[in-house]
Amino acid sequence: MDRALIIGASGGIGSALATALGARGVAVTGLSRSADGLDLTAPDAADRLAGIDGPFDLVVVASGALEIGGAAPEKTLRAVTAQAMLDQFALNAVGPALVLGQAHRLLPRRGRSVLAVLSARVGSIGDNRLGGWVSYRAAKAAVNQIVHTAAIELARSHPDAAVVALHPGTVQTAFTAKYLGRHPAVPAAEAAANLLAVIDVLTPEQTGRFYDWAGKEVPW
Ligand SMILES: NC(=O)c1ccc[n+]([C@@H]2O[C@H](COP(=O)([O-])OP(=O)(O)OC[C@H]3O[C@@H](n4cnc5c(N)ncnc54)[C@H](OP(=O)(O)O)[C@@H]3O)[C@@H](O)[C@H]2O)c1
Repeated sequence: MDRALIIGASGGIGSALATALGARGVAVTGLSRSADGLDLTAPDAADRLAGIDGPFDLVVVASGALEIGGAAPEKTLRAVTAQAMLDQFALNAVGPALVLGQAHRLLPRRGRSVLAVLSARVGSIGDNRLGGWVSYRAAKAAVNQIVHTAAIELARSHPDAAVVALHPGTVQTAFTAKYLGRHPAVPAAEAAANLLAVIDVLTPEQTGRFYDWAGKEVPW
């Protein structure tokens, strides 16, 4: 792997991925809202993404949020508001979709490459036994569908690429700070190492699928 692009490189997992890749000698292009003004929900997001020079052997979409505009994840359906749900979709589903819209340029047409979108196990419909967190779950379920759809299309023009959704595990970042409680969580550096171990062995035959940090497939 020579060149990697991390979208959301300022985040806990995104920055740990950039550090780990840099330590391997990979040339990392890291982009973020806070450092580069790349707001995936802004009207100019698609144009900004269209201006990124590729190709990259690895593209990771590490952006996302659980709480947007002060709206905490819903404990019950009665707490759903249109704005909170739209905000979740804008960042966690539409944002990655805009990146995937550039995948044909960002990935090489030949030679192994990986585009990984950080999804979340709670976006799995088959794995949902607890309910709650309606907007975040639904936005992650939507991004899973978008990843799967993109993989089908890209397989035609980029046969050596693997386009996947990845669940990073429960990770100690700003994202989880308010919600962890006693739930076990790994440091971001460990999550990055886990994710790279999965990415390292992905093959084009695995494109369009959803894996966790250990490389185990997650049900849709
Ligand atoms: N942490 C976990 O336990 C966990 C579990 C499952 C899934 N995930 C997923 O993993 C991904 C990364 O999570 P994390 O824990 O690393 O979160 P984090 O530390 O809070 O980082 C979030 C990243 O998303 C970026 N971001 C937020 N709003 C944005 C916007 N409007 N436009 C562009 N970028 C935006 C942030 O950019 P700025 O800081 O520059 O604004 C930051 O780079 C998310 O998709 C999350 O759903 C995390």
